[in-house]
Amino acid sequence: MSLDDMAVKPHDALAAHLSADMDAVNTLIRERMASEHAPRIPEVTAHLVEAGGKRLRPMLTLAAAQLCGYAGPYHVHLAATVEFIHTATLLHDDVVDESGQRRGRPTANLLWDNKSSILVGDYLFSRSFQLMVETGSLRVLDILANASATIAEGEVLQLTASQDLATTEAIYLQVVRGKTAALFSAATEVGGVIAGADEAHVKALFEYGDALGVAFQIVDDLLDMQGDPNATGKNVGDDFRERKLTLPLIKAVANADDEERAFWQRTIEKGQQKEGDLEHAIALLHKHGALEDTRQEALAWSRKAVAAIETLPAHPVRDMLSQISDYVVSRIN
Ligand code: IPE
Ligand code: IPE
Ligand code: MG
Ligand code: MG
Repeated sequence: MSLDDMAVKPHDALAAHLSADMDAVNTLIRERMASEHAPRIPEVTAHLVEAGGKRLRPMLTLAAAQLCGYAGPYHVHLAATVEFIHTATLLHDDVVDESGQRRGRPTANLLWDNKSSILVGDYLFSRSFQLMVETGSLRVLDILANASATIAEGEVLQLTASQDLATTEAIYLQVVRGKTAALFSAATEVGGVIAGADEAHVKALFEYGDALGVAFQIVDDLLDMQGDPNATGKNVGDDFRERKLTLPLIKAVANADDEERAFWQRTIEKGQQKEGDLEHAIALLHKHGALEDTRQEALAWSRKAVAAIETLPAHPVRDMLSQISDYVVSRIN
């Protein structure tokens, strides 16, 4: 391997490998995000879709299908379905989180309004159902319908767990499995199912997606505290302002002395935040090694993902999926 090859990020390597299929997915996305009757829809969807995004989930579906030897056309529909579900949840999530930046651009809720974001999100959800129906596979429908319900469940569970200092790591994991890992595992699972893979292989793909999704969200929560907005395309401290008990915070709260506990009660429970609080919160996370401990947990989930995929037969795409798992956690190295 040349130095140039080594400089290519694993995410780019998989994207390059899947580029023909990804072009087809992007064409399908553009075709289906349009609407003849409501001009607001293409305005909002184009804003978000043209901003890019990593397209990680559709790539996982394409890769899983290829890994299992699929030769038909429907992996493209499934990949587009998965990206539509993802985009719909982002539109809704930015309303719920009152976020101002996404994919390096102002959010749709900021540029238009909450109503547009919610309704266009609903439109994309419905479009995703139409796309998956075209595959004719009831099993795929079952997996993706379940994932959609589980994502919503995770978001609602997070809503009731936020502001609550008693939130445990177990509840956090349940939230993350729902709001994020459910779509990752569905993305990889449907790739195997559409290819008619062995049950053991489908299960391995599910487990890979599940562990990768958990690692991914833990990393996202770390980046919220210590990321570079130029790299993440999102603001720092959104979770703190939203009073969310993410893993680093849960760990710091567990080790808080009386004075620190009073700080968390004021900022997270009562929501009385003032200038300098975010910086102080980050200092407390460092003090208790909460960021490093959280990073170690992300690494453990990433290793779990690699272990799951290693039960599949050797294949170049299998190696790329292993590298994706490294890439996800490399964002915090
Ligand atoms: C954002 O996902 C939502 C989370 C689960 C953290 P991505 O970081 O994959 O978003 P895009 O699609 O690349 O913008
Ligand atoms: C991501 O939630 C999961 C969903 C969009 C369902 P977050 O709120 O943690 O993600 P970001 O940080 O806004 O991307
Ligand atoms: Mg959010
Ligand atoms: Mg959210």
